[in-house]
Amino acid sequence: MIIHSADFVISNTEVEKCPAPNLPEYAFIGRSNVGKSSLINMLTNHKKLAKTSGKPGKTQLINHFSINKEWYLVDLPGYGYAKTSKTNRKMWSKFIDQYLLTRENLMNTFVLIDSRLEPQKIDLDFMEWCASNGIPFSMVFTKTDKLSKVEIDKNIAAYKRRMLKQWEEMPPYFVTSSVSSKGREEVLDYVEEVNGL
Ligand code: GTP
Ligand code: MG
Repeated sequence: MIIHSADFVISNTEVEKCPAPNLPEYAFIGRSNVGKSSLINMLTNHKKLAKTSGKPGKTQLINHFSINKEWYLVDLPGYGYAKTSKTNRKMWSKFIDQYLLTRENLMNTFVLIDSRLEPQKIDLDFMEWCASNGIPFSMVFTKTDKLSKVEIDKNIAAYKRRMLKQWEEMPPYFVTSSVSSKGREEVLDYVEEVNGL
């Protein structure tokens, strides 16, 4: 897919205030600091489209971007960030859950997973929650520039083993780096394929 345009549309915490659901939509979610905003910038070739930070908890809103005026890309706050107050965390998960459960044009949720870590309970729980609520998702392994090929394969194999205990097959998954742009075409081609563009 060639990205002709990538434009910020709106940020908010209310599903009702999101743009009219008249285009297919793809959300990016995962633990705080896993690299969601960086991945979005890499995919769209815009260094500063989504705000990134070394400190977890940067993205706090539902952020809509219009891509090629054909589909929406959505940057979401991370889950599992402990440094905000409890009330705040509860509010986040509530509006994120609300968004994921009710957004009718949501075609796929990319669940970002830090490729450097062994399978994390919080990610497995989140994917389980998606599956039990019929929310389509795929996995995106991030920050693979920090690992050797052997380490990447080993960590993905561990995830596969863990996932296959629970499910009959692996969801689609992508191996990416926002530094080297690895996986860019694969993710964008997947969007194109699901969109039927
Ligand atoms: P929140 O919005 O806080 O939930 O974080 P996020 O998931 O959007 O992460 P963000 O894109 O802000 O990146 C977090 C940190 O990881 C930043 O310091 C990035 O530079 C770094 N980072 C993200 N992706 C990569 C990657 O592919 N490779 C490397 N080496 N660093 C990355
Ligand atoms: Mg972010």
